[in-house]
Amino acid sequence: MKVVLEGGTKEVKTVWMEGETVKLIDQRLLPDEFKIFSAESVEEVAFAIEDMVVRGAPAIGATAAYGMAQAKMLGRKMDVAASILKDTRPTAHDLFHAVDHMERAIQEGKDPVKAADEYARDITSRCKKIGLNGDKLIKDGDKILTHCNAGALATVDFGTALAPIRAAHRSGKEVFVWVDETRPRCQGAMLTSWELLQEGVPHAIIADNAAGYYMRKGEVNLAIVGADRIAANGDVANKIGTYEKAVVAKENGIPFYVAAPASTFDFSLSDGDQIPIEERNPDEVLFVRGKRIAPKDAEARNPAFDVTPSKYITGYITEKGTLSSEKLIILSE
Ligand code: MRU
Repeated sequence: MKVVLEGGTKEVKTVWMEGETVKLIDQRLLPDEFKIFSAESVEEVAFAIEDMVVRGAPAIGATAAYGMAQAKMLGRKMDVAASILKDTRPTAHDLFHAVDHMERAIQEGKDPVKAADEYARDITSRCKKIGLNGDKLIKDGDKILTHCNAGALATVDFGTALAPIRAAHRSGKEVFVWVDETRPRCQGAMLTSWELLQEGVPHAIIADNAAGYYMRKGEVNLAIVGADRIAANGDVANKIGTYEKAVVAKENGIPFYVAAPASTFDFSLSDGDQIPIEERNPDEVLFVRGKRIAPKDAEARNPAFDVTPSKYITGYITEKGTLSSEKLIILSE
């Protein structure tokens, strides 16, 4: 992704490896600071995933792939490294997909770093295809709603939900993006807006509660979101708040698309009720940037994801085209 820094413009990926170190854009610090986080062991890679130095399903997957490669280089046991990494965040399917992929590649005697690089390159090329396929759904002048951050930061480059928007903008279409701020971690306000600014895409951040207002006013033509895990019947786990956006979109006749690569699909689960949903620390709700905003004795709950039933989803923008829920099975081939 193109990043505008003080010394000029730079092309950077979300995650990569240098020697025995896994390098990551530290997403906890954006948009204030652009810094690189170095993970020197599988425990540090696991910390980076759990503490959300890196987040977004495909980016978590690529980071875990590099974590496995690093563990192999440092002589760690592969089954131990796999379980440390898998124990970080339960919902994103890409994490499990990537760790299993790397265990197989290493067992087959492949060079671990080359295998992880290939995994990251493959994700990027799938995201580019998602961009081209999704671009076909976008008309000049469209106003598009997105939730959370499903951009380059959430993948390795390019993004899933932001890939069609990026492609449409680059092909000269006028697009405008409504960016849900996405409480409690504010990935929309802090990350999606930052990415769209790097690319020069016009947008406005809105409070999560404002999306329905703009949908009903006719100011949203299309909604595109990413996914953390998609069950065989097309039910989608994505950032908390996605479900209600999809229901309100249907109520207002607005097409609601989910963009994701094959690595996010979990065909072992028949429906979304079986997807494990991560519940994070309630402090993420109670505190904003270190300052408590709720009364001292108040309690909070913090589910990180919700499940949107497939009946609310118009189509799935994938590397193999935009598919209906009945056609998803081709992604398992
Ligand atoms: O908790 P996060 O920030 O990891 O959640 C990210 C999302 O919900 C994204 O929409 C999803 O992972 C798709 S990323 C291409």
